[in-house]
This record gives sequence, C-alpha cells and structure tokens, in this order.
Amino acid sequence: MAISKRRLGRTGTDVTILSYGAMELRGQPRAPALSDDEAGALLNAVLDAGINLIDTSVDYGTSEELIGKHVGHRRDEYFLASKCGCPLSAPADATPPYQHDYSPANVRADVEQSLRRLGTDRLDLLQVHMSPSRDQLEADDTVATLQGLRDEGKVRFIGMSGILPHLPEHIAMGVFDVFQIPYSAVQREHEDLITAAAAAGAGTLIRGGAARGAPALDKNWRTGPLGLAQGEGQRRWQTAEIDDLLDGMSPMEFTLRFTLSHPALSTTIVGTSNIDHLHGNVSIAEKGPLPADLYEAARERLTPAS
Ligand SMILES: NC(=O)c1ccc[n+]([C@@H]2O[C@H](COP(=O)([O-])OP(=O)(O)OC[C@H]3O[C@@H](n4cnc5c(N)ncnc54)[C@H](OP(=O)(O)O)[C@@H]3O)[C@@H](O)[C@H]2O)c1
Repeated sequence: MAISKRRLGRTGTDVTILSYGAMELRGQPRAPALSDDEAGALLNAVLDAGINLIDTSVDYGTSEELIGKHVGHRRDEYFLASKCGCPLSAPADATPPYQHDYSPANVRADVEQSLRRLGTDRLDLLQVHMSPSRDQLEADDTVATLQGLRDEGKVRFIGMSGILPHLPEHIAMGVFDVFQIPYSAVQREHEDLITAAAAAGAGTLIRGGAARGAPALDKNWRTGPLGLAQGEGQRRWQTAEIDDLLDGMSPMEFTLRFTLSHPALSTTIVGTSNIDHLHGNVSIAEKGPLPADLYEAARERLTPAS
C-alpha cells in the first residue's frame, strides 16, 4: 500500500497526505536528544516510506542542517518547505513566540542561511513564520521581498504559516500559494479557514494534526499562544466522549485520520523523533480519512465541546 497524494493547490505538486514536520529535530532542550545517526536514519526512513514533503524552519535549531546532511543527496525526492522572518539563531533565553523580523534584509538572510544549511539551491516553499498582520507585512515590504526571491529562483512558491486573527486577511491578499494552518479533532478553530484557503486556490499544510501525539497524556498537549491551554485538548476529547466512538481504533489512529478527513487538506506535516512512531503514522495514513459517517458523528460531538 502507498500513502495517497493530493494536489498542493496552485503549486501543481502532488504531495503525500502524510508529510514530515522536522521540528522534533531541533535538539535539546526543546526536543528529544537524537544522535546524528538516529536523525539520519529517521530522515531516510521518511523518504523510504514514500513521504515527499518536509517542513522545517530557521527556528528549529539543528533541523535544517540535519536535513541537508542526511537527505541533501536525495533532494529531488521531496518538496522542501522552510520559513522566514526568524532570527538567524534562536535567542537562547526565549521560548516562542519570540520577536520576528519581516524586513527585506532579515528575510533574505534567513533564505541564504537556509539554502546553505539545507545544502540546496532552492526552497520549494518559503513560508512567513508566526502569522504577522497584513499591516506589518506591508510596512516591511515582505511580499515584494518574497516575490523577488521567487523571481531569482531561490524560492519556487510563497506561503504563510497563518493563524487567527490574521489568517482571513492573509487569504484575502491573494498572493500566497500555500497556507500552513493548525487543525485537529481538538483544535477546530481554523476548520472553515482551511476550506477558504483551498477555495482560493492555495495548498494547505496542516500542522498539529497528530494533536501532539498522545491524546491520553496531558503532558503532551501543546500549550501556549500557538495552541491550546494546558488540559484543554484533553477536556474537549473527554467532553465529546470520543473514546466511545473508537471501536477498537487507537486514539492516535482516530486523531490522525480525523485530520486527514478534512476535505480541503492537502497534507498534514506530522512531527516525530521516533522511527516506530513514523512507521505507525505511515500505516495509519495508508488507511486514509475516517469513514464519512464517523467523521460527521465526531464533528457533531466535538462542536459543543469546542
Ligand atoms: N508556527 C509554525 O509554523 C509551526 C508551529 C508548530 C509546528 N509547526 C510544524 O508542524 C509540525 C507538526 O506540529 P506539532 O509538532 O505541533 O504537532 P503534531 O505533529 O501534532 O505532534 C508532534 C508530536 O506528536 C508526537 N507523535 C507523533 N506521532 C506519534 C505517534 N505515532 N505516537 C505517539 N506520539 C507521536 C511526537 O512525539 P515523538 O517524537 O515521541 O513521536 C511529537 O512530539 C512541526 O514538526 C513543524 O514542522 C509549525
């Protein structure tokens, strides 16, 4: 069996519905300790499984360098997405979201550093990180900078890692080829905006689609301004009594297939540092979306819970 593919909007590229989010390769203290060999084995296993899109960022510590080192020689096998607006090295004493800078000088410096670290001459997708407002983008002339990089061939497509409240105005700008948006069974705030982005012709990279991995473990639910408050994901899951719908399915299978069931999803960029989790996620993705009646039943239960 193979993971099915969907069109990434107007990029015209067909991407596997499960792709790889490389944030877990950023190194300690914010990600698990992985040896160089383990990182190499994991990245090669991603490609060996047929996954053809990798998402990374300047902000993800050692992630870009590890991708360049271990799968740079397989560059034609994957659509490579990174981000800009980031400090060239993350401030040692800050936790995200820290200050980003969308000026031409910093965006260009980010791209040059990414190309060097990733061992490539082109990014397939350059995404503006951290969802700045349209006013901020205009004040910094960011879109013209992105378009200039595209004209120079350093970047093929431009995108936005967008969330509320600014995502609707990003879609209305009509300049972004792809949007990266959070979505899962317990985080449905952007559900209609994913539909709107796709209706505008853009591709959609869904993040958080594995709901940080383990719905049963409170410590794994993402906290902070980019996600849910501590315990909120678990509260939504329990209030909706999702366990009653599982019928033998693991919470991870349900979670991932719920995400894959969004009709406007192009791909979900699931992060993992664990090769067994990767293989498990591939097997789940091969099953594809949930049966339509189960997806609808779950959405009905989850709506009041959210
Ligand atoms: N602002 C932004 O643009 C932004 C923000 C956040 C993330 N991202 C991107 O989105 C990607 C995914 O986002 P995310 O990390 O927030 O959410 P996610 O993919 O829902 O969750 C990843 C977490 O789930 C765990 N996991 C994955 N598969 C598992 C399995 N089969 N069993 C148990 N645990 C499993 C991983 O831990 P293990 O390592 O133990 O498997 C990891 O901690 C990132 O890698 C990054 O590329 C972008």
